[in-house]
Amino acid sequence: MTRHFLSVADLTPAKARELLTLAHDIKVHPEAYRQALSGQTLGMIFQKSSTRTRVSFEVGMYQLGGHALFLSSQDIQIGRGETIADTAQVLSRYLDAIMARVFGHDILEDLAAHGSIPVVNGLSDLLHPCQTMADALTLAETWSPAGGFDPNALAGKTLVYVGDGNNMAHSLLYTGAVFGMNVTVVAPRGYWPDLGVMDRARAIAAETGAVLAVTDDTVAGVVGADCIYTDVWASMGQEEEAAQRLRDFAGFQVDSAMMGRANTGAVFMHCLPAHRGEEVSAEVCDGPQSIIFDEAENRLHAQKAILVDLMQKR
Ligand code: CP
Ligand code: NVA
Repeated sequence: MTRHFLSVADLTPAKARELLTLAHDIKVHPEAYRQALSGQTLGMIFQKSSTRTRVSFEVGMYQLGGHALFLSSQDIQIGRGETIADTAQVLSRYLDAIMARVFGHDILEDLAAHGSIPVVNGLSDLLHPCQTMADALTLAETWSPAGGFDPNALAGKTLVYVGDGNNMAHSLLYTGAVFGMNVTVVAPRGYWPDLGVMDRARAIAAETGAVLAVTDDTVAGVVGADCIYTDVWASMGQEEEAAQRLRDFAGFQVDSAMMGRANTGAVFMHCLPAHRGEEVSAEVCDGPQSIIFDEAENRLHAQKAILVDLMQKR
């Protein structure tokens, strides 16, 4: 059966740790993987803008000996109404895998259901799993004992996500659950995570010991945080709600006072792009606790691991 990478919730804790260990090995020994995907092609379908996802996947394929094709949904026939089912079947005859950034998560599921090659979620309205695997890699590096790398370093730590209960919040909840890392989402009422996602994340967390919580309390909610994470208040596709959201999220900015309530040594993360002065102050975003660019770099290494895992012929 063709394997896909659509959600971190689909990974067993052991598989998630294996992927992080592989990502770390690829990061430290990139030369050992130069031919890992030799002769293989990844098609990259984009319904939305991207800097990091597009560039890191394209560079990642090149570094693994393969090739990547950028396919704007406006430029292929999907944009003129060709079905996802037909697109998936046709692309499966040319490509070795598909990465897609889409609005509805069902589009990814349709690509996976109708194609015969692996599908990777490069962000949907529901989830952003490549981002949170890169985040898990970054936090495991940060919290591992000096000189070592241990994916178990995430277990028992606490990540507090402050902001919209969106695709990032959902994938961080799943990632925390799978790795045994506590996740609190601090968001205004009305912007809390999807209940179906919460239920599934809680079911996973019951097995791993992660504690998951949701609150609108920006004071008590961040106490005990080892990492404070945020994302934009208006995601791609929500541009028309931006002004209303700016009002609704007042008081939810990650600033120095909020970082001061976290644990000593806590780090700040953001999937980027960031809006300084909105969801995060410039002082925090560009301050000493911020690891946003290590996080962005790790998209490359984490995704190379995902691609090798799905595509390498054994
Ligand atoms: N974080 C992230 O996915 O960035 P892009 O939208 O630039 O790909
Ligand atoms: N929540 C954001 C993440 C961007 C990487 C969005 O969907 O636009």
